[in-house]
Amino acid sequence: VRAVALGICGTDFELISAQYGWAPPGSDHLILGHESLGRVQDAPKDSGFQKDDLVVGIVRHPDPVPCVACAVGQWDMCRNGKYTEHGIKERNGFCSEHWRIEPQFLVKLDSALGELGVLMEPTTILAKAWDHITRIGERALWKPKILLVTGAGPVGLLAALIGAQRGLEVHVMDRVASGPKPQLVHDLGGTYHTGSLDKLGFTPDIIIECTGAAPLIVDAMNLIGNDGILCLTGVSSHGQREPIDIGTLNRNMVLENGVIFGSVNANRGHYEMAEQVLLKADRNWLARMISRKEPLANWQEALKRRPDDIKVVIQFTSD
Ligand code: BGC
Repeated sequence: VRAVALGICGTDFELISAQYGWAPPGSDHLILGHESLGRVQDAPKDSGFQKDDLVVGIVRHPDPVPCVACAVGQWDMCRNGKYTEHGIKERNGFCSEHWRIEPQFLVKLDSALGELGVLMEPTTILAKAWDHITRIGERALWKPKILLVTGAGPVGLLAALIGAQRGLEVHVMDRVASGPKPQLVHDLGGTYHTGSLDKLGFTPDIIIECTGAAPLIVDAMNLIGNDGILCLTGVSSHGQREPIDIGTLNRNMVLENGVIFGSVNANRGHYEMAEQVLLKADRNWLARMISRKEPLANWQEALKRRPDDIKVVIQFTSD
């Protein structure tokens, strides 16, 4: 595959600061990059791929045992933690001008997506989260109306996008009051909030937590209402202590059928769902999520955070 673009995300910053990540066995370095986009350069005849297909690499590979989940292609639910991930865990990533991959870990994209295809991998994370929210909700009659998303970074905005596509009343809470985020939420038909969660004045049916920040997580837990679902997607750093009344929390969860659950990664089915989400979305809105593109020669700039960044992309070639 010839690389077209590569998205940078919070996990990459954790990798760079050596808080997370594992090099391939026997190697003293790890090639970064898990949000890929490329064009097939060469493919075996019976692989289902042809030269110039627009493609994305699947991040996680099943564990070699395999566990019961990985054995049926649900590597996102790996039971023994021996899975590997491109650019994150024991498998080199996609931050190179060319990369090779087994066809079963490559996903062909509708060419209509073009360079917006770089948003596929982060969208798969939310496609999975929504898939599981739906499965949990449907344990009984379920008519959710209100969605609250905490964090208006790429993950939060994609969570909000899917909520809007599902016809929910969308609310997004973030700490910044300026820059492109409020308008992006507004353009989804959503309401943008800053300030604190306990002043919201309504009870969401679904909360998707996308910051990993301890105070917000506690506030989100306290906000869960009857039959409510809180999905945690932000990977927190260790050692964030926050006082919490577990008695009240447990009491509310039991008496109100509450669910708090975590969601990570995505399997092939979620890549298919994510493609549908992107195809249905407004292309101009998606393009605005990509707030900065740095040419490969400037890659170091892509790894420096700027205040108005949403999704920063390293551009290898024009599509
Ligand atoms: C990636 C996931 C991965 C997770 C944990 C995220 O940034 O998007 O694919 O499973 O990190 O390593």
